[in-house]
Amino acid sequence: MNNKLLLDNLRCIPDWPKKGINFRDVTTLFKNPECIKTITDEMCEIYKDKGITKIVGIESRGFVMSSAVAIRLGAGIVLCRKPGKLPCETVQESYKKEYGTDTIEIHKDSINEDDVVLLHDDLLATGGTMKAACDLVKKFNPKKIYANFIIELVNEDLNGRAAFDKDIEISTLIQV
Ligand code: PRP
Ligand code: HPA
Repeated sequence: MNNKLLLDNLRCIPDWPKKGINFRDVTTLFKNPECIKTITDEMCEIYKDKGITKIVGIESRGFVMSSAVAIRLGAGIVLCRKPGKLPCETVQESYKKEYGTDTIEIHKDSINEDDVVLLHDDLLATGGTMKAACDLVKKFNPKKIYANFIIELVNEDLNGRAAFDKDIEISTLIQV
């Protein structure tokens, strides 16, 4: 937790995409081989004994580490995408954003009741995106659902963790 290498390498872009937002830019971790190894190692340490069978990566920055961790844990990867990108029949979930609503979807045949599912994204802000993804995965009635983020925003009064039902176990690698 709060690995110094990750904290030191995370870039912050002030006033992006709009004034007042301090954007935590995970691409500076993704481009650094030591950082992606550290993220992979830490995630695998947390989840190695949990029997994870599927990792659900959230579009788009959640796709990156899902792949490395899935290979190490011997799990499959499921893409959770914005609407209109997946070619086969999907299950959808809509959620409220600051302005208006958004929708995410996954393929209808991607998860079954025998699965133990780890959802992964780069960053926890309000928790709206991941909460919707968890609700979506719950529709498949898997054995257990875990959620992981590389970065948790804790200093901006967002209280993203409060968005989740108690039965979802959450882990984050760094808090900023
Ligand atoms: C960002 C981030 C998370 C989400 C976090 O994605 O990668 O998915 O927002 O915010 P929340 O906790 O308030 O829901 P974005 O919507 O920018 O999509 P992208 O990764 O496709 O750019
Ligand atoms: N970085 C990436 N995604 C985000 C952020 C951020 O700082 N805030 C809300 N979504």
